[in-house]
Amino acid sequence: MTRVLVLNGPNLRRLGTREPEVYGADTFEDLSALCRETGRRLDLQVEVRQTDDEAEMIRWVHQAADERLPVVLNPAAFTHYSYALRDALAQRTAPLVEVHISNPAAREEFRHTSVVAGVATGTIAGFGLMSYVLALQAVAELVAEGRAAG
Ligand code: DQA
Repeated sequence: MTRVLVLNGPNLRRLGTREPEVYGADTFEDLSALCRETGRRLDLQVEVRQTDDEAEMIRWVHQAADERLPVVLNPAAFTHYSYALRDALAQRTAPLVEVHISNPAAREEFRHTSVVAGVATGTIAGFGLMSYVLALQAVAELVAEGRAAG
């Protein structure tokens, strides 16, 4: 079974209490359960992680590159400024789908730039937690097509 890492950046563990008018009422535990359940349906072994620490996120991205693991990534605020994360992601050896719960393009101007998008296979944004379901579906399709690097 293909293993997939679902990586989440800063503040995402606070889903449910964090700006619910933007990110909804579901918690990070709800998100993790949804991803694992979607994985079971798609025959993917999904592992969900969250960190507020850029260095830890970069270590996980290196692990994914070394082990050829597909990644669904919500870089959260790192999206908009972390060249270090982008450089780590550029080393990827499997599909990478960038996801966002909200639609950053419809929000403040600083959210309109993603320094990650250019090294991702593609981006899914604005569908709430469903963004992750769609991203995992995309990973399952890419794996089925045998697109190693996406
Ligand atoms: C986010 C959007 C980012 O702009 C923000 O910094 C986040 C969450 C989203 O999922 O909508 O933390 O990535």
